[in-house]
Amino acid sequence: MATYDIVIRNGQVADGTGRKLFAADVAVKGDRIVAIDAPGTLRGDNEIDATGKVVAPGFIDVHTHDDTALIDNPTMAMKASQGVTTVVCGNCGVSAAPYVRPDVGHWMSLIIKKKENLSKDFASFAGKVDAAKPAINGAFLIGHGTLRINSMGDDLNRVATAGEMKQMRELLDQSLEQGAIGMSSGLFYAVSSHASTDEVVEVATPLGRWGGVYTAHMRDEGDHILKAMDETFEIGRRVGAEIIVSHHKCSGRSNFGRMKETLPHFEEAMKKQQIAFDVYPYVAGSTILRSDMLDRADKVLITWSDKVEGMSGRDLREIADEMGCSMKEAADRIQPAGAIYFMMDEKDVQAAMSHPGAMIGSDGIPFDAHPHPRLWGTFPRVLGHYSRDLGLFPLEDAVRRMTSYSAQRFHLAKRGEVRTGFYADLCVFDPATVIDTATFEKPISPARGIDTVICNGAFAWRDGKPGGGQAGRALNRQAMQAEDKA
Ligand code: ZN
Ligand code: CU
Repeated sequence: MATYDIVIRNGQVADGTGRKLFAADVAVKGDRIVAIDAPGTLRGDNEIDATGKVVAPGFIDVHTHDDTALIDNPTMAMKASQGVTTVVCGNCGVSAAPYVRPDVGHWMSLIIKKKENLSKDFASFAGKVDAAKPAINGAFLIGHGTLRINSMGDDLNRVATAGEMKQMRELLDQSLEQGAIGMSSGLFYAVSSHASTDEVVEVATPLGRWGGVYTAHMRDEGDHILKAMDETFEIGRRVGAEIIVSHHKCSGRSNFGRMKETLPHFEEAMKKQQIAFDVYPYVAGSTILRSDMLDRADKVLITWSDKVEGMSGRDLREIADEMGCSMKEAADRIQPAGAIYFMMDEKDVQAAMSHPGAMIGSDGIPFDAHPHPRLWGTFPRVLGHYSRDLGLFPLEDAVRRMTSYSAQRFHLAKRGEVRTGFYADLCVFDPATVIDTATFEKPISPARGIDTVICNGAFAWRDGKPGGGQAGRALNRQAMQAEDKA
């Protein structure tokens, strides 16, 4: 009888496709899944008893800002503890490469804490990720905002010139050739809000040629969301790229209930082009502190402030009362800062999450002093709270939205399924107890019920702590395309 490196025995397999749970042993050799057979039949050097547990593909967090967290914090505990084995980085228009300026600057500091993590081209950045030997994989988008700062300097309140667009386009082209998986834009943000639709199209043109995806933090997620959706669809159509709309939400009390408009709008467009979206399972969002967002939120929590100490985790209303001024004035006084905004309708969040076009992404921000709980809680919350406790969708479907569907939409070859020949990215969890424990008050807290997480055949998380695995890698689009055809 063949002996394997690892055998996960007697588990219930949720294979990622949505197929009903089935009992099986799963065997790993090297970095691959090599056998799936009747319970109790496979033998390995390392046997894990998964009786009563679910064996799923490792989860794919399709919306992250973990670009340099993979380098600075290679155990990636905030993600590995949730069962995540691949993070898609570079979302919302901000990526760590390509970037030739000498300083990190304010915008880039959202995802970069160390100057040495700046990289002039994508290949050298990917090299830094590989050299850090992270516990989990990264796949990387190139940020349109990063390209803008790189090519336009501080003069961003205008459309790029033809020469600047050409430079950005060439940098994107080179990055895609070097293995980046696509481009993200964040037209909502000041660094990119003056970019025209035509500018984004001009820059994003290489996506069509390389088969890269286009992800969009849209220009508007509130009153003008339908118009912003049309702009996004137009960009994808004109460059010939598949679209992923980031963290789909209807933001602000006056827009509560508008999933009734946006979801059919998606469905109409989906008939003509490939479109999907990601969702995080919370009614609060988080980004930089912006005074124009204060009116829309029921409550605002400060996540960090570079100006005033002791602000992290506090309610802006209280800070304003203490300062004896308006919330807007208080916000101005503590800038630059980050915030959590309670600004979504629970019914909308559930409608988005359970839509056929939806996959799960955390949008966690790894370096926040008091992060949004989604950083540590997204995946167990979908499994435990939304699937098991609320019955929003069956467990098999919850797993599918975190694995095979995500891998297909981002073209991550041979990942996202428990299948022979696929990479050994696996998560063993207890379906009866799995739950997030991170809260808005205490956001840094690992999930309960996730026992074993394996990435490329190595333990990323085991028995409540990092498992010592260092087998994560920078996934290369070119290599994945070749593998897909093989
Ligand atoms: Zn975003
Ligand atoms: Cu984001």
